[in-house]
Amino acid sequence: MTALKATAQAHPNIALIKYWGNRDQELRLPSNPSLSMNLAGLTTTTTVEFDPALNADALTIGGHEVHGPGLERVSHLLDHVRRTAGTRLCARVDSHNNFPSGVGIASSASAFAALALAGSAAAGLNLSEAQLSRLARLGSGSACRSVPGGFVEWDMGRDDASSFARSIAPAEHWDLRDLIALVDIAHKSVGSTQGHALADTSPLQAARVQSVPDRLARARSAVLRRDFAALTEVVELDSLIMHAVMMTSTPALMYWQPATLDVLYAILDWRREGLSACATVDAGPNVHALCPAGQAGEVERKLRAMPDVREVLVARPGGPAQLIDAR
Ligand code: DP6
Repeated sequence: MTALKATAQAHPNIALIKYWGNRDQELRLPSNPSLSMNLAGLTTTTTVEFDPALNADALTIGGHEVHGPGLERVSHLLDHVRRTAGTRLCARVDSHNNFPSGVGIASSASAFAALALAGSAAAGLNLSEAQLSRLARLGSGSACRSVPGGFVEWDMGRDDASSFARSIAPAEHWDLRDLIALVDIAHKSVGSTQGHALADTSPLQAARVQSVPDRLARARSAVLRRDFAALTEVVELDSLIMHAVMMTSTPALMYWQPATLDVLYAILDWRREGLSACATVDAGPNVHALCPAGQAGEVERKLRAMPDVREVLVARPGGPAQLIDAR
């Protein structure tokens, strides 16, 4: 081990084609492939320092000490790093988000992508992008998509070695905006990990999984051709199918709030009036309004005028996870 300390940054991502359900919950081998866009402007910055003086891993998020399941999840990923690097040293992990976490904007994606990069670099490992993506996946499935840059596809793969994400187009390929309408910033009651475990209890999950490859091909083609109308159709369908699975799981997972529906209806209205915008919702109540950059000012103004929209975060396509310091 040469380096002992490293800092990395990563962006969260918005899934255009959703990951929901695992074939292997422990390894986070997903039930279906997925496609996403990294979100520049929203950033997690994580420093990992292996320290011979520590006898347990320590974690702070936003300056607050974290114990229990949050720390265990971080230690679990660091255990993989330690095994690969052949060390037993414990680490101090400091992580900061410049956006609210636990509100359905996938803070776990940027968190585990940044942790995989900072942790492996601090342990002196020089992993390839595919290896980093696999490592991040062990912490949070969607995190594997925050390792490569821009528009990213996660091949579900057959096993741990073949399940990782790769970029299909760089961030500069298409100047889209994701306007995240925050309608509720309370921490969500059922996290994604518990949610994935319920997916197969829905009678609709098999039909969803079976129909993903077709939607994925349409979404990939829409991105590569920069065809926003085609993207709108498939993105909204895919989000609604995932929420249909969530709502018909046992127990039912209802992430939407009344305000979520208000925003979804409003976006439909604006589209009928000629605005190019579409909606997608992750495992939370907030609505991601996607649009070409030229429409973003108008969509943002309209979202902010809605009584239940508390804040609007604006993100553009983002680059890959990056190492910003290692020594
Ligand atoms: C609805 O990656 O957050 O955002 O692997 O348990 O951390 P864990 O789940 P996570 O699930 C993301 C679910 C989603 C859809 C998506 O991002 O593809």
